[in-house]
Amino acid sequence: MIEFGAGGGLSEASGEALAVPVFAERIWGPGADWVAEELGTWLDEYLEEVDFSGKADQIVSLPTGGRLRFRTLFLVGLGEEADLDGVRQAAGWLGGKTNRVGDLATTFHGLAVDGAARAFAEGFLLGQYRFDKYRSEPKPSLTETVRFVGGAAEAAVVEARVGAELARAVALARDLVNEPAAGKSPEMMAAVARRVGDETGIRIVVHDEEDIAREGFGGLAGVAAGAHRPARMVEFWHEPENAQAFVAFVGKGIVFDSGGLSLKLPAAMETMKTDMSGAAAVFGAMQAIAALKIPVKVLGITPLTENMPGGGATRPGDVLTARNGKTIEVLNTDAEGRLVLADGLALAAESQPDVIIDLATLTGACHVALGDKIAGGWTNNEVWRDRVVGAGAAAGERIWPMPLPSDYRKNIDSTIADMKNTGNNRYGGAINAALLLAEFVGEVPWVHLDIAGPARWPEDEHYQRQGGSGFGVRTLVAFVEDLAGRR
Ligand code: BES
Ligand code: MN
Ligand code: ZN
Repeated sequence: MIEFGAGGGLSEASGEALAVPVFAERIWGPGADWVAEELGTWLDEYLEEVDFSGKADQIVSLPTGGRLRFRTLFLVGLGEEADLDGVRQAAGWLGGKTNRVGDLATTFHGLAVDGAARAFAEGFLLGQYRFDKYRSEPKPSLTETVRFVGGAAEAAVVEARVGAELARAVALARDLVNEPAAGKSPEMMAAVARRVGDETGIRIVVHDEEDIAREGFGGLAGVAAGAHRPARMVEFWHEPENAQAFVAFVGKGIVFDSGGLSLKLPAAMETMKTDMSGAAAVFGAMQAIAALKIPVKVLGITPLTENMPGGGATRPGDVLTARNGKTIEVLNTDAEGRLVLADGLALAAESQPDVIIDLATLTGACHVALGDKIAGGWTNNEVWRDRVVGAGAAAGERIWPMPLPSDYRKNIDSTIADMKNTGNNRYGGAINAALLLAEFVGEVPWVHLDIAGPARWPEDEHYQRQGGSGFGVRTLVAFVEDLAGRR
C-alpha cells in the first residue's frame, strides 16, 4: 500500500524524485515555476531538445545531476487547461512511468482544480496498476510513499486517501476481470464478495444453485444449465443509519461466455472472461461506498454463472420463466446476459429502490456503435439517466444516451412466450436487449449501461492499462456521492 504524506516546503524538500505539472506551451504549473527558476536555461534547452511543450499525454523524466535536491525530475503535460479528468490522466501517465521510484514528491495538489489531490491519487495509482500474478517474474511497484510538497499539503493528504480508496476498488474490479475464467467460478466470486463483506461490514447474501431453482431465478438457472460449476446470485447490502436515498446496482456476471449451444467462433471467445465486468463494477463500487461510509442505502446484485454448452444446456427454442413470472423464449443461447439480468433486475425491483442501475457487457452491437471507450446508456427515466451520465462525466467515464423506442418492442415478440431473447435481425441489437431488460424493472426508475466496449481497455493509456478497466466503479461511486450531497 502506497502511503500519502506531506513533504514540507518545496525549496527545503529533497528526495528521490519530484513530479511537477506543466501546461501547454510550457506554461509552468505549481512547483514547475520554481523548478524552472532553479534550473534556468539548462532546462529550457533540454525540453527544446526532447520537444516537450506540455501537451496532455506528454511526460519527460530527466536526471537533475545535483542541480536540485531531487535525483530525478518528472515534467508532466496537462495541455491547455486541466479539468478533473485531465489531472487524473496526467497522473496516470506519471504512474505508468514511476513503478521503480520508491519515494515521489509532487506539487500536483497545487493545481486550481477542486479535488486535484484526490484525482491525482486516483490516476497515479491506477496508472501503476499491473496484473502480474500469472508471470513467473512479477514486477510489483516499488513506490512506497508519495509526498505533497508546498502549501496545503495536509488537506491534500486527506483527499488523496479518498482517491486511493477509489483506486483500490477499481483495482479489485480489474483483478476480477483480468483473472482467467478457470480462477473465478461463481463460487469463487461469491467468496470474494464475502471477503469484501467481512472487510467493510456490508451484509452479503449468497443464493446457491438450490436456492436459485427454488426461488424462481429461471433465467439464471437456464444459462447455468450447461455448466459444471454451479451458479450463484449474490446480494450486497450497505445500510447506513443516516441513509439519504436507496439505490440498487445489478451487474452481469458471466464468468465465461462460450455462447452456449449457439457457440461463439474461437476469436470471439478469446476475451469472454471479461463478461463479468458488470458484476466486477458492482463488487468494486460496493467496497468503496462502504469503506468511504457514504450515507446512501445501496443494494448490489450480481447473478454469477458461466455460459457453457454442456449436456444439460438450454437449447434454442426452450422457454425460461424469470423471477417476476414473465417467460422468455431462448432462440440464441449466446444472448444470455439479458436472461440472468432479467432475474437480477426483478429481484432489485422487489425492494422498490429509488433507482436501479445495471451494468453489463451485453451486446457486440453496442461495442460496434460506440467503440472501445464509451458505454451506452438506456433508461425509462431521463432525469435519473442524466444524473448517471453526469456522474460518469465527473469520473471520466463516458456514457452516451441511447433510445428505448416502444415501437421496437415488437422486435422481441415471441410466437409462443412473452418475449424472445433476440431480435429478427442484427439491426439495433443493443436496443432490443435493453427493451427486454425493461420488462423486468416494473415501474422503478432504471438506467442500463451497456459496457461491452469500455470494460476492456485496448491499450495502455493514461490511467488505463490494457485489459480489464474496472469501468463503472467510479461512475457508481460518484453517483452515490452525488445523492449524498458530497460532490
Ligand atoms: N457477452 C456478449 C456481448 C459482447 C460481445 C461483449 C463482444 C463484449 C464484446 C453477449 O453475451 C453476446 O454474446 N451477445 C450477442 C447477442 C446476440 C446473439 C443477440 C451479440 O452481441 O452478438
Ligand atoms: Mn453471449
Ligand atoms: Zn455475454
